Amino acid sequence: MGFSEEVQGAAETIRRAETVSVISHIDADGISSEAIVRTAVARAGIPVSSHFVRQLEPLTMKAVPEDDSLKIFVDLGAGQQNLLEERGLTPDEVLILDHHVAQPCGTEYQQVNGVPHGHTRLSAAGVAYFVAKELDEENVDLAKIAIVGNVGDMMARETLGLVGPAAEIVADGVAHGSVRVVRRDLNCYGTSTRPVHVCLSYNDDPRIPGITNDTRGAQRFLERLDLDLRAPGGRWRVWEELHDTEKRTITSALVQQLLANGEGVERVFAESYLFPDEVERTPLRNASEFATVLNACGRWAKPRIGSSVCCGDRGTALREAEYMLNNHRSIIRELLQFIMETGVTELSHLQYLHVGDRYPDTIVGIGAGMALGKLNWRKPILIMCTLPEDPGLTKVSMRTNEWSVRRGIDLQAALNAASGEFGGGGGGHPIAAGAFIPREAEEVFVSRVNDLLRDQLA
Ligand code: C5P
Repeated sequence: MGFSEEVQGAAETIRRAETVSVISHIDADGISSEAIVRTAVARAGIPVSSHFVRQLEPLTMKAVPEDDSLKIFVDLGAGQQNLLEERGLTPDEVLILDHHVAQPCGTEYQQVNGVPHGHTRLSAAGVAYFVAKELDEENVDLAKIAIVGNVGDMMARETLGLVGPAAEIVADGVAHGSVRVVRRDLNCYGTSTRPVHVCLSYNDDPRIPGITNDTRGAQRFLERLDLDLRAPGGRWRVWEELHDTEKRTITSALVQQLLANGEGVERVFAESYLFPDEVERTPLRNASEFATVLNACGRWAKPRIGSSVCCGDRGTALREAEYMLNNHRSIIRELLQFIMETGVTELSHLQYLHVGDRYPDTIVGIGAGMALGKLNWRKPILIMCTLPEDPGLTKVSMRTNEWSVRRGIDLQAALNAASGEFGGGGGGHPIAAGAFIPREAEEVFVSRVNDLLRDQLA
């Protein structure tokens, strides 16, 4: 069966359902997927309820309702079909919309997943969007949310823009008028809300000596270009509001600086996705910052607030989401400081740190990713933390960068294999992955991951 047939089959299954339960994941892709499915199912006149889980594992299976609704698993499920089977779920009550590698079991569950069809850069929100559009063409207004999910799950990162079926979603959003594409935009995070020098300093892909991780350096670089980057009243202007000539002056100077350092320049630019119907200079204005809002809600146990924002609530939900975002940012800053002050232990192929129970397991990975740019960025970083609700378990988060992935590093493969050897479980992506392991295995586990990374580079 091709991908389109899977999509059609899923739409038919949904049309036949009397009630639907959506079970989804708490990250940006999971929340946007849930919002898309919930909206499309409700528009089809079918009662629908949603349930969010951090991971689908034996302990969280209780979130799956025991009723005769159609259970739609989004952004999870493909890799945990054995759990669905153990729970006794039959094929006619399950639909999986996922983009993770499937681990089939004895029971054949209905699934829509781009991965077996070679669509490896289509996140769950993308899959959910195609099903929603198959249910009703009117659902093209959800393209914007699907783009947020795809960008949030880093589907655009390596290719400097969404490609394949995800690019079709972009075209739908543009035709609908709710998405604006900037083809060769600055490849930086924060272009709608951050002062330009802060935005430039965030970027480590490409790394620019004197600018990356150096706001002062970035400010000096911009001062030399003689641009007036303050708005009347004195606030810093953001990248999005600069004129094209000003943007060109900055990107040309960045290109020259990279060339002078003998570096490639193609990664200075990337396609970006703006939402003209959102207020300027707010985090909902572009896909990557919108995704951060969703992550902030999900990782701090408020995925429903993020989902309401996806569904258009610009009142209470947005105010709460903004509060979550500010809180998220300040705790991550604190975590980053803790990592830098405590320092990491370096092995031959990774660097690691244990943060104990100081920070929730849902955010340590984000802190790890941010710390990597300030540490030895050539070595993947592994951070462990304890789980207050289960002292026998340790959560592991790993992060690396495109530079390492291009050289063969695959964190999801390493964590999946190593955690399996100790009776744990893990997964994710080559650039960002996580796992749970028994606490007593921590030390040997780290050394095992180090060996696996060494083998990947061999
Ligand atoms: O939790 P963390 O942010 O480190 O997760 C990084 C990636 O690894 C996410 O895509 C997450 O879904 C995945 N992961 C996983 N299995 C785990 C933990 C994380 O697949 N046990």
